[in-house]
Amino acid sequence: MGRLVVVSNRLADPRKPAAGGLAVALGESLQRTGGLWFGWSGNIIDEPGDGESRLHTRSSGKVTLATVDLNRSDYESYYEGYANSVLWPVFHYRLDLANFNTRYLAGYRRVNQLFARKLKPLLRDDDIIWVHDYHLIPLAAELRALGCTQRIGFFLHVPLPPSLLLAAIPQHEWLMRSLFSYDLVGLQSEADVAHCIRYMTTESQAVLKDDQRLEGFGASVQVKAFPIGIDVEEFRHLGQSQDAVDTFERVRSEYSRRQLLLGIDRLDYSKGIPQRVRAFRELLERYPDNEHSATLLMIASPSRDAVNAYADLRQELEGLCGAINGDFGDLDWMPVRYIHRTVARKRVPGLCRASRVGLVTPLRDGMNLVAKEYVVAQDPDDPGVLVLSRFAGAAEQLKDALLVNPYDTEGMAECIQNALHMPLPERQRRHRALLENITRYDIHWWRESFLQTLQSLSTSASAA
Ligand code: G6P
Repeated sequence: MGRLVVVSNRLADPRKPAAGGLAVALGESLQRTGGLWFGWSGNIIDEPGDGESRLHTRSSGKVTLATVDLNRSDYESYYEGYANSVLWPVFHYRLDLANFNTRYLAGYRRVNQLFARKLKPLLRDDDIIWVHDYHLIPLAAELRALGCTQRIGFFLHVPLPPSLLLAAIPQHEWLMRSLFSYDLVGLQSEADVAHCIRYMTTESQAVLKDDQRLEGFGASVQVKAFPIGIDVEEFRHLGQSQDAVDTFERVRSEYSRRQLLLGIDRLDYSKGIPQRVRAFRELLERYPDNEHSATLLMIASPSRDAVNAYADLRQELEGLCGAINGDFGDLDWMPVRYIHRTVARKRVPGLCRASRVGLVTPLRDGMNLVAKEYVVAQDPDDPGVLVLSRFAGAAEQLKDALLVNPYDTEGMAECIQNALHMPLPERQRRHRALLENITRYDIHWWRESFLQTLQSLSTSASAA
């Protein structure tokens, strides 16, 4: 295989333990194969005008990291604007939160063009290019326009919504057409693949061939589900570290008289965090045996604060948690512990293992890797129970979790009550089945199956 080139909005140093599924997954992939990782430096420069930003390169083990800065107006219109105020809400089925400001598209195109211009001179003829996520959908089209003929694959980490939701984006034809410049489009779930095919065959007049290839605009693209996994070995290893063991012991002893329920998320409206808190309140109201016992520990890391919908969410959540603690709390029991900070990754396995129930209840999620981490962190002899939203991509794989509808407050409360009272043999049986699936479809399976598929395809360099 040629050199692997990964392109994503954010980079992380693959040698440092990074927080967050995407960074961890890509870091591990690159470290194994070596290669180039290209993206935004994370710096915003205040220079006015469109002065071309410099390329920064450095090596980290076998990987070269190449990054560019963004000027403030590009950052605002590309990242806060089109990526996180148009694509993120629409792709998570939240048209009500989308802001279709026309300025955003220009910034999104400018940054994708900048990435293509800066990346092109770094490429070798036999490179395999793997582009990630909604920030960079048109990147292959921009690279093709500059004459790149390498194989290019794309993986969308977020859900792909039904075609009529996509069609609400004013520039949806342009956006979706640009997918035809890729050789392979990977999605998280079969549901996403079905949405993509339906969009392409109804809104774009593409033709579906037998083998999930779509032909249109004089090009052809393979669309396929590659549900992302975690590095099970690495996570287990992390769970055996002193930090993880200390965290586990501290949390266990502090909550020795309680049943701990755990949620770890970015503070994002797609994660269903207020819905989870309402269900917890319902649990306390309907099943008073949980009073002085069930304790909800919610860790929500700050995210995209400058986008209005995120600030609103924070306020709502603080109100909900405060009300539960005020109404139900006692001198020796706070029902909800809400922490608005990022928790160090090394503490995650210990927190998961110390919790009787893992609550992963997004309203919509591409996959959700916390669900998988929760399962791997458990003691197989006395495992906790995963309560998982049926609207997370992970629900297609993790059928032995307790699946819930996060919009159904009473149903979710009942499900949590069942989780808290589940007999040991059933917990063990479910845990075994979940662990087997997560271990088989781990991060290595994901990377290898995507790259093997990409390599097996002939390139669509002449595309759209
Ligand atoms: C999701 C997206 C990633 C993104 C991450 C963190 O997982 O799929 O592409 O990097 O959220 O969000 P941020 O906006 O901070 O990069």
